[in-house]
Amino acid sequence: MCGIIGYIGFQRAQPILLEGLKRLEYRGYDSAGVATIEDGRLVIVKSAGRISNLEACLEQRPLLQSTIGIAHTRWATHGCPNDINAHPHSDASGRIALVHNGIIENYATLRQYLEGKGITFRSETDTEVLAQLIGHLYAPGQLESAVRQALIQVQGTYGIAVLCLDEPDKIVVARRGSPLIIGVGADEYIVASDASAIVQHTSQVIYLSDGEIACLDRQGLRTTTLDARQVSKAVQSLELTLEQIELGGYQHYMQKEIFEQPTALRNCMRGRLDMHESRVVLGGITKLDRELARARRIILMGCGTAWHAALIGEYLLEDFARIPAEVEYASEFRYRNPVIEFGTALVAISQSGETADTLAALREGKERGATVLGVVNAVGSTIARETDAGVYLHVGPEIGVASTKAFTGQVAVLAMVAIWLGRKRHLSPTAAEILIRELARIPERIEQVLTSAEHIREVTEKYCDRENWLYLGRGYNYPVALEGALKLKEISYIHAEGMPAAEMKHGPIALISKGTPAVFIATRGAQYGKVISNIEEVRSRGGCIIAVATEGDAAVAKLADHVFYVPDTPDPLQPLVTVVPLQLMAYYAALARGCNVDKPRNLAKSVTVE
Ligand code: AGP
Ligand code: GLU
Repeated sequence: MCGIIGYIGFQRAQPILLEGLKRLEYRGYDSAGVATIEDGRLVIVKSAGRISNLEACLEQRPLLQSTIGIAHTRWATHGCPNDINAHPHSDASGRIALVHNGIIENYATLRQYLEGKGITFRSETDTEVLAQLIGHLYAPGQLESAVRQALIQVQGTYGIAVLCLDEPDKIVVARRGSPLIIGVGADEYIVASDASAIVQHTSQVIYLSDGEIACLDRQGLRTTTLDARQVSKAVQSLELTLEQIELGGYQHYMQKEIFEQPTALRNCMRGRLDMHESRVVLGGITKLDRELARARRIILMGCGTAWHAALIGEYLLEDFARIPAEVEYASEFRYRNPVIEFGTALVAISQSGETADTLAALREGKERGATVLGVVNAVGSTIARETDAGVYLHVGPEIGVASTKAFTGQVAVLAMVAIWLGRKRHLSPTAAEILIRELARIPERIEQVLTSAEHIREVTEKYCDRENWLYLGRGYNYPVALEGALKLKEISYIHAEGMPAAEMKHGPIALISKGTPAVFIATRGAQYGKVISNIEEVRSRGGCIIAVATEGDAAVAKLADHVFYVPDTPDPLQPLVTVVPLQLMAYYAALARGCNVDKPRNLAKSVTVE
């Protein structure tokens, strides 16, 4: 998803803006641009393609010395990725520049109105409409007021930063539905879409909330609501460190994040597993324990990988807490007029905490009276701040577009929530203690799986030219099959389909032909025998069997063409180990196919637009 960065202070803005754009590259983009105020002129430089294209354009001009500027990486929604549609956009006078994350839903009506006033548009974007509207409403010295009046007319989502040549020492920012964080330095401010572009400058931040406008100038910062009421905002400390967002010797962020899962999960569970009392400690939801203990139904929702984690959460909650649970795609839940009766709790799962559909779904649920919990990684993110309570993953920032440690973090947190709830209902201390002990051993088990990385690479490279892979699992490993297929699709661009192994006979088995890669999660567990039968069915039709099996299981080795072993783990916690070989397969397939592992085509790290 797009990235916004803005700077006002005592340093040259250009290098800070470009470095900030590079920190935000992982969010996914197709063009980039900067705007600064130089020697009485508003300078806008922008270009389709990578940030390196923008840097090449900047090299063609005298170095920008300005100490104020805004910059943007665009993920196109309205208008193709090209130089003209890239941000920043300016108004007709050329004195106002704006960058925007989100969608102006009523842009066509506003554009028609402005064209009726004689304004000529240069681009196809919805964003230019907002820039032109602000310019149309602008009165000398009234930039903040013009932004406010314009936003009152806007329907849709925005995170914006605005410069004006007539007020050269001011940046006006505002947000509704798209993230914006303000870094507070010594005599300088950095505003950005997420903390990874701020952390190297300051750890003191202000989280702007939806419907708020902030005016940054050389005297300070002032925040108001859209209806011009003053708002005082607390300055908070970032948990993020620069080291956490650096590659740290790995080739890709995805590789780093796969291999740091043992550490990430230790951090996720630190202080939350109380062996002596056979209980889980989750400070973030303690205030809701009576309400949750009496919940009559739990709806888990998310998108993509978070939705896969939700499926595992459904099984965990029903297994450990005996509470009826169900899973919804956030994008479906928000539009389908859901039934929310008394005693319903929602769980919004999101790594970024900014996914538009998940945010909208939780708002819909709250509107209908549900208690909403967040299972989120990004501290201070919008979803985290809008839920009634929540549990942070604490797995550190996830930069790779393909989610890996966030998935295992989500599953670990959902397991802890299920044990926490179970102990308030029917789960015995003995049963809880066993689960807690098993959970505590997961990091070392993942470490063991990671030692097979080279073997997994060799096997994957043999098959990475094949199309149409099947991923199959049962029970707790069915969502893992879905997750494995998604991983392969999104970074190697190989079509793959995940499904419950039992479902294969109801149609998909027709897809099996000689050499079709079929990845089975065939670990020892409740439905082991059934999975073995499914393997036989695929094998007899010429499919190539790649199996994830429990270490020491020689039977699977006789049936499969290749086996990746994982340590023996109780069914409910198996996803935490069985997903790792699938993550590595996707990574090595993408490498072998020359794909851009951390910035796969068409994808964004956080889908903050619908
Ligand atoms: C997962 O690999 C994808 N990047 C994507 O499906 C992601 O899980 C989804 O967009 C949800 O993102 P979130 O967890 O930040 O809400
Ligand atoms: N809707 C705007 C455009 O298409 C902004 C997209 C974004 O968030 O990057 O230019």
